[in-house]
Amino acid sequence: MLSLYIGIGTAAADQKPKPPREASPASAKRTADNTPCLKCHEPFAAETLGRLHLQIGLGCVDCHGKSIAHARAGSGLLKPDVLFGRTQVDSFCQRCHDAPHKHPARVESWARKRAGQILPTGRKIMEHNICTDCHGEHV
Ligand code: HEC
Ligand code: HEC
Ligand code: HEC
Ligand code: HEC
Repeated sequence: MLSLYIGIGTAAADQKPKPPREASPASAKRTADNTPCLKCHEPFAAETLGRLHLQIGLGCVDCHGKSIAHARAGSGLLKPDVLFGRTQVDSFCQRCHDAPHKHPARVESWARKRAGQILPTGRKIMEHNICTDCHGEHV
């Protein structure tokens, strides 16, 4: 079960990650429903990371936890169950995406073209970026 090994700060965090190849067939049968979160986070309906993972049955709650108290309160004061510091993002993504980029040269050239620039998301392309600097508009 995918939901067993995602969730920073839970016991499940210690479990061994599965690569996407294994996750894919199982998750193909999964469905996720983001509508309870999208009620307030409407822009995330079109957000790339949210959309890509929804397609394979991973919803907001699979990464951020059920976050029932947060969704009920509807404010930033009661936090979602799972949040990520900048230094936690890469290792989280790599639980499933543990293979290096298939075409590292294309990634390098993408980054070189944008070196030093601030993307529309507000993220800056530097020598060392985290996954979400380049992927998605999760800001
Ligand atoms: C694949 C896992 C994943 C999914 C699916 C996902 N998130 Fe996130 N989310 C993250 C990570 C990782 C971060 C931290 C990103 C960073 O700091 O660079 C984050 C950050 C956020 C933030 C804080 C952004 C900020 O910088 O203040 C919000 C709000 C958020 N997510 C909402 C959502 C909503 C709503 C959905 C569903 C539509 C969703 N997320 C789906 C992993 C995910
Ligand atoms: C009733 C409104 C409401 C619902 C429903 C809701 N949120 Fe939020 N959420 C907010 C508000 C308001 C904030 C604070 C402002 C912001 O960051 O957008 C927030 C912030 C967040 C953040 C960033 C928190 C931070 O401190 O960086 C994440 C992640 C998040 N929500 C995830 C979710 C997820 C996952 C769901 C669905 C389970 C959800 N929210 C449902 C209103 C809501
Ligand atoms: C629970 C497992 C899991 C987690 C955690 C996860 N992903 Fe994914 N992701 C998948 C699966 C499965 C797919 C679809 C199969 C594939 O393309 O690998 C996917 C697809 C993607 C794609 C599209 C790949 C393509 O070929 O177009 C990107 C980009 C991506 N994920 C980035 C991220 C980032 C960045 C994070 C961390 C914020 C993350 N993922 C976290 C499982 C996960
Ligand atoms: C400097 C920007 C950058 C960073 C950092 C980055 N990526 Fe990528 N990523 C890209 C680009 C550009 C592509 C498309 C490459 C192509 O066209 O072949 C890509 C492609 C992908 C794909 C599709 C499959 C593949 O290998 O091409 C996945 C999945 C992915 N990245 C996940 C991640 C994860 C997980 C992280 C963090 C550990 C990460 N990326 C960090 C820019 C980045």
